[in-house]
Parts: sequence; structure tokens; C-alpha cells
Amino acid sequence: MSRQIIIGGNWKHSMTEADTVEFCEEMKPLIEQKPTSVKLIIAAPDLCIHILERYFGKDDRIEISVQHFDIGVSPTTGARTGATTLNQIEKSESNIQWVIIGHSEVREYSHIDNRYINQQLLELQESKSGIRPILCIGEDFDIREQGTEVLKDYLKKQLTEGLADISAEFMKKIVIAYEPIWAIGKKTDGSAKESATSDQAQESCNIIRSIIIELYNQELADGITIQYGGSMKAKNAEELLSQTDIDGGLIGGASKEAQSLIDITKAAS
Ligand code: 13P
Repeated sequence: MSRQIIIGGNWKHSMTEADTVEFCEEMKPLIEQKPTSVKLIIAAPDLCIHILERYFGKDDRIEISVQHFDIGVSPTTGARTGATTLNQIEKSESNIQWVIIGHSEVREYSHIDNRYINQQLLELQESKSGIRPILCIGEDFDIREQGTEVLKDYLKKQLTEGLADISAEFMKKIVIAYEPIWAIGKKTDGSAKESATSDQAQESCNIIRSIIIELYNQELADGITIQYGGSMKAKNAEELLSQTDIDGGLIGGASKEAQSLIDITKAAS
């Protein structure tokens, strides 16, 4: 079955509004080079979304994502300083079509767990807003060191708890990003981490697909897009993306430059 190939840029906190203008100016002529078979999403910081909207909001070659929202806050609940709600995202004047759910950095720094992530997905399922989640899962180095069976159990727990009461119909809208924490970002000395090898990434994405078969069914699992994330860049993208169960990438550092992001979309086609 042919699956949708999706490349996502996750800018995290690193881009300012001025950086976003610069990126968009660089991207304007380059977007022509994006293969039509590859969907491109950019998850920008909330403050930068309006700039992406200004440049690409009416252009379906780039779809806009936020990186998180807070659960349990509605226009009628008590005041919650600092929160961003699904209601605000839905009613945004920007055409926000995606949200990253459960990124490992949000899990760690905002202390959210699988239950919280499940509540986010349930809110999205109930909202019928059409906003699609990119659900991030992945293990730290301790788990990886304990071997494949422990890894399987860990990914299964993240998926089973995160997807509790998620219908098959809504599941078809979810993209899963497999992001091993040990491969994301930089080491403490500032040097780049190594990506997972293509074999490691393929093995994990295959495990994820087989868990989806158990939780749902073969047809659904065959159709779902599973991205790999963790030090993917133009240089290693082709090898990672040529694996049978890897249908895209979620890219941090290398997504901040328009040319490098476009090169990754080319490697994906
Ligand atoms: P890096 O590509 O910087 O390792 O980040 C990956 C990631 O966390 C994407 O969500």
C-alpha cells in the first residue's frame, strides 16, 4: 500500500520572528523544488505562526503546525496563565492543520505523561476540527541498551496508553513520529548526536507498525505514516527514508534552513 510521505520541520524554540521572515524569503523560490508526492509541514513556535501564514498560508505546499497545546482548558474553565488551548488553535486566523503531540522534550520539561497525551488526542478527536496530530514516541538510551524485547514493551506502552479510546477513524488521521531520544539534538558538549542507523530506525518503525496491527488492524497499520526523527539531515535522509517502514521524517536542527529542508523532501521522493 502506498503511504503518504510526510516531512515535518520542528523548529522547537529556536526561531525568532526575524529568523522566520528570513527563512520564508529563502523558501519562496525553493518551494518549487518540493516534490508534489511529499507533504511538507512546519511546526513553528506560536509567535512565528503568523509569519508562516503570511507567506504560505494560502499555499498548500507548506502546511502549518503548532508544537503543543494544553489540555483541559476551555473558554469556560478558570484562568490559566501561559496556556495555549485547542480552542485558540482552532479559531486562529492562521490555517493551522497540525499539532505535535508528546514530543520527548515536552514530556520531559513540561512533565507530561502518556495519560496527558491521551487526553490531548481525545480532545482532538472530539473537536472534529480537522487538526491532525503528529504523535511522538521513542525511547531513551537506557531502554535501548536493554535490547529489543524491552524496547518493544516500551513502545507498546506509549502507544497503548497514548491511544486509549482513540477510534480507528481518528487513528487514520494520526501520524506517528518515532524519535529515539538518544539521537535527538546535540550532546552536552554542543556536538551533534548521531542519527539512529537505518537498520535501527527501520526495526523500531516496523515494531510500531506491528503494534498498530495489534491495537487496530492490518489495513490501518499499512496505511499509517510513520516518521523517523533524530538527527535526520540532507546527508542521511535518503538512506533512512528508503527503509520499508519509514514514511517520512521529523526534523529539528536541519529544518531551520530552507535549502536543507527542501533537500530532505527531495530525498524522500
Ligand atoms: P534533531 O533533528 O535536531 O535531532 O531533532 C529531532 C526532533 O526532535 C524533531 O522533532
